[in-house]
Amino acid sequence: MKHFLDINTTSKAELRGIIDTAMAMKTARAGRPKGAPDDDQPLKDHMVALIFEKPSTRTRVSFDVGVRQMGGQTMVLSGADMQLGHGETIADTARVLSRYVDLIMIRTFEEQTLLDMAEYATVPVINGLTNRSHPCQIMADVMTFEEHNGPIQGKKVVWSGDGNNVFASFAHAAQQFDFDLTFTGPPTLDPEPALQGFYTIERDPNVAVQGADLVVTDTWVSMHDPQSARERRHNQLRGYQVNEALMAKAKQDALFMHCLPAHREDEATSAVMDGPHSVIFDEAENRLHAQKAIMRHCLGR
Ligand code: CP
Ligand code: NVA
Repeated sequence: MKHFLDINTTSKAELRGIIDTAMAMKTARAGRPKGAPDDDQPLKDHMVALIFEKPSTRTRVSFDVGVRQMGGQTMVLSGADMQLGHGETIADTARVLSRYVDLIMIRTFEEQTLLDMAEYATVPVINGLTNRSHPCQIMADVMTFEEHNGPIQGKKVVWSGDGNNVFASFAHAAQQFDFDLTFTGPPTLDPEPALQGFYTIERDPNVAVQGADLVVTDTWVSMHDPQSARERRHNQLRGYQVNEALMAKAKQDALFMHCLPAHREDEATSAVMDGPHSVIFDEAENRLHAQKAIMRHCLGR
């Protein structure tokens, strides 16, 4: 049994294995109806709990569909509807759920909630986003890059905007998959200090994107950020919008990614999101394939 908590706590060999499995599983399904079962059914007779303490479209649907394609069943639980939202501890919740289900995916606020779940659960736990990281997303992003432009090793990835949870998983991935990562954003929204050494900083976005193989951004206000900070964040980040003029300074075959949901015309323009560099919907699709491979990895199947 293995948890999937973060990209920097999973070995390089395991990460590469997950990407390879995801690609193979995607290829094996090509052209088939979305609801069709996979030929192999590694989750047959398995029950998976999907816990959400924050909203979700992609994570919720892609995990649910992925489990079913592999022959398993799911239970989607909202944190607010569970006793968890009424004072029961994570440790007790983890021990109880482990008596019923074979795998737990949790999207939550504090990283400590995820860590407690993993410590006390006796079944694998998968991180479906915390305030600090979003590893499933970046596994899908690495897969998407490699599908389009080959090995990501040695490539230049530029993040423009907020140094947030999604950036943190990119920073972990830069070390594990051996690519160069540049952060461009205002000093007030720098990534957390623990990530220093995983990336370089270039304050001028026009300089940062030169020679980029991949340009990435994300929402300027994350789900854990107070709405009261919205205007201040927008003012600080406006200069880091990914628009056609900025993309034109990257490599000719550069890709554009955004984990979605996006706020069009804020962090990225529609011209870029729907333009020739964009692979945002392949990214969204690859959540499904990457997470199926992650679940197989966790269950040793
Ligand atoms: N990218 C992502 O995790 O999307 P959701 O919030 O819709 O799950
Ligand atoms: N940074 C965003 C990602 C959403 C998928 C958030 O945490 O809200």
